[in-house]
Amino acid sequence: MSSRVTIAEKLQHLRELNRVAEAGGGPERVARQHAEGKMTARERIEYLLDEGTFEEFDKFKKHRCTDFGMAEQQYLGDGVVAGWGKIEGRTVFVFAQDFTVFGGSLSETNAEKICKIMDLAMKVGAPIIGLNDSGGARIQEGVASLAGYAEIFLRNVLASGVVPQISAIMGPCAGGAVYSPALTDFIIMTKRTSYMFITGPEVIRAVTHEEVTKEDLGGAMAHNTKSGVAHFAVDTEEDCLNLIRELLSFLPSNNLEDPPRRPCHDPVDRMEERLDTLVPAEPHLPYDIRDIIHLVVDDGYFLEVQEHFAPNIVIGFARLNGRPVGIVANQPAYLAGVLDIDASVKAARFVRFCDCFNIPIITFEDVPGFLPGVDQEHRGVIRHGAKLLYAYAEATVPKITVITRKSYGGAYCVMGSKHLRTDVNFAWPTAEIAVMGPEGAVNILYRREIQSARDPEDVRRQRIREYEEKFASPYVAAERGFIDEVIEPRLTRPKLIRALEMLDTKRDTNPPRKHGNIPL
Ligand code: HXC
Repeated sequence: MSSRVTIAEKLQHLRELNRVAEAGGGPERVARQHAEGKMTARERIEYLLDEGTFEEFDKFKKHRCTDFGMAEQQYLGDGVVAGWGKIEGRTVFVFAQDFTVFGGSLSETNAEKICKIMDLAMKVGAPIIGLNDSGGARIQEGVASLAGYAEIFLRNVLASGVVPQISAIMGPCAGGAVYSPALTDFIIMTKRTSYMFITGPEVIRAVTHEEVTKEDLGGAMAHNTKSGVAHFAVDTEEDCLNLIRELLSFLPSNNLEDPPRRPCHDPVDRMEERLDTLVPAEPHLPYDIRDIIHLVVDDGYFLEVQEHFAPNIVIGFARLNGRPVGIVANQPAYLAGVLDIDASVKAARFVRFCDCFNIPIITFEDVPGFLPGVDQEHRGVIRHGAKLLYAYAEATVPKITVITRKSYGGAYCVMGSKHLRTDVNFAWPTAEIAVMGPEGAVNILYRREIQSARDPEDVRRQRIREYEEKFASPYVAAERGFIDEVIEPRLTRPKLIRALEMLDTKRDTNPPRKHGNIPL
């Protein structure tokens, strides 16, 4: 009888190793994870990917730390599950931090696993999805862990604009660890179970004596409403994972591909009479720009991004004749749709994302200008507004703008004007294109005349009327060719679809250079 291990025994051993690896940190820790309303790393991946498509790498990888009694504590896979699979039949790479193993903390080997799939994702041109749930750097490993983070950050930067990167925050994400998600394209946070901060409540209490809860400091709504760090807040883990799939349906797998098109059952020549009367005749009255978006796009479906942050500008994805587009729209229903620092930065990043990934940009414009105020000026509205201007100007994807009402001052130039290489500029008859609104302009141009008049109010009204006749229409701009066509609002959908079709083969370039110097 040979003393060699039989093939059957080897198979048995492999099965046993797989079972151990799949058990993560053990049943008690898994139960604790479930009790907190969280799935395990493997359950999340299973839910996220098309059924049965997950292929795992480095399932048996172990850490190499021997300090602090770590040599005796080994969990196969070392706290992160990594590999690739399919979403709607398309390849994606995914890693999920396993909180049941050392709190999902990042070790040197754990980072190597993440870097391996990131490198492969860049080579094959497929999105990278990170499911974050981690206590941060593995404390026992010291600088080896920090080095691991830096290796990941480097890859986040190199992959930026090459493949889409999506981060889901489904538990803790603290300290420098936040910078990996922050470098990716989209951050989704689960309400109540996730938080992100550089320094937590205890450190803040010690240093600044401020009292704050984890949720108020870095919970999903804090980052969706106040900081603008996150792009989506969701109620459940299932919502989070569904949203990743949904988001990817608008995105190409890499920067060399076009976004995936779908068959469109919404008629391409659909006219919408409601659009003719949607903009109020009175220029100061608000309306919801999303009503226009919903009436124009395929099946009224609009996936809004950063819905809760800087609501004076609306951004998101939709489809026109089955083709994904990025939409940027001033929102007259909030702060009259004014551009401020937050709105500028929000829209600038979105425009740049669309430009990276060949997604045409449709702009709906109704903007009274930049927000006046000492606070805005001192916080750098010049610098931040310049970001949006820069983003629009450098974008080479198809760009189409529709002016629905106000287009005043610098905001006219910024919001996809003809002069920034926008391909097709439409205006509705309700458009007003001017250096500033009538009241402001008349007060400057005719102040002396109004002050010395016998009936100042009467003169003021007359001058405003004259100004409005001249500028409260799109025709001066149309005479110069800055507006290509003044269209009936009801025709907006067919007009946009035809313009997009014409632009399908658009190629445009920027001058050769290492990179531009966007004002940061
Ligand atoms: C090693 C860790 C760990 C870490 C948690 N654990 N964080 N192990 N390194 N960073 C372990 C715990 O020892 C515990 O092990 C298990 O994970 C679960 O942790 P609990 O504390 O029991 O869980 P909970 O009560 O839910 O608290 C979670 C937590 C807390 C808030 C994340 O663990 C915590 O504060 N951890 C430290 C967070 C931190 O300061 N990390 C460093 C941040 S700085 P057992 O065996 O009991 O299950 C950083 C720098 C990155 O990350 C720099 C990049 C540039």
